[in-house]
Amino acid sequence: MKKIIAVDGPAGAGKSTVSKIVAARLGYTYIDTGAMYRAVALKVLLSGKTVEDVTQNIDIKLDESGKVFLDGHEVTKEIRTPEVSRGASDVAKFGVVRKRLTELQREMATQGKVIMDGRDIGTQVLPNADLKIFLTASVEERARRRFEELKEKNFAADFEQIKKEISLRDKQDSEREIAPLAQAEDAILLDSTDLNIEQVVEKILQLAAC
Ligand code: CDP
Repeated sequence: MKKIIAVDGPAGAGKSTVSKIVAARLGYTYIDTGAMYRAVALKVLLSGKTVEDVTQNIDIKLDESGKVFLDGHEVTKEIRTPEVSRGASDVAKFGVVRKRLTELQREMATQGKVIMDGRDIGTQVLPNADLKIFLTASVEERARRRFEELKEKNFAADFEQIKKEISLRDKQDSEREIAPLAQAEDAILLDSTDLNIEQVVEKILQLAAC
């Protein structure tokens, strides 16, 4: 069984949903690195401080049940707003932020039996991962999924607006200078446009077993 699994891909491809299920089935720990960038963004938005200042002195914790803590306070819900999504993609361009979060993420993976998802896990954070997946889907389908997710959480949602924001975030994430969103050479490409969650989970479990 593969001990360290890296899942990268653009917004809305289903990384966190499938990674959570795969982790539960294998008895692995799921690490949502996007939540960590979101926590940095939330702190910048709330404190009005610079990205550098915030990064120097920040405490981010993820617990086993998926709760996210920023400086000791739970922020699981607050980090999922569209404003924080945009902010996360903005702070993710800063070298200081990436350096700090990459250190934390590597520490979290040292015990093995982890599945970590993000944008640069297979390329930068865990280049020696035993299995690397690059999970993607069409922009249209990813926007549709995000739209449903926001509706379910009772956030106001406009499909065309979401599609625009996802395209913008794709562009920002893939074109930034440091650790851009990219498929690692040894990653397996999984296009989930026409696959349901269970089909993607099954595929990853098969790959993890060989
Ligand atoms: O859930 P969603 O795919 O919308 O985003 P996320 O995974 O929570 O990540 C939010 C933002 O953080 C992304 O748009 C990236 O800019 C940034 N991020 C990153 O740069 N590197 C990572 N390893 C994870 C997230």
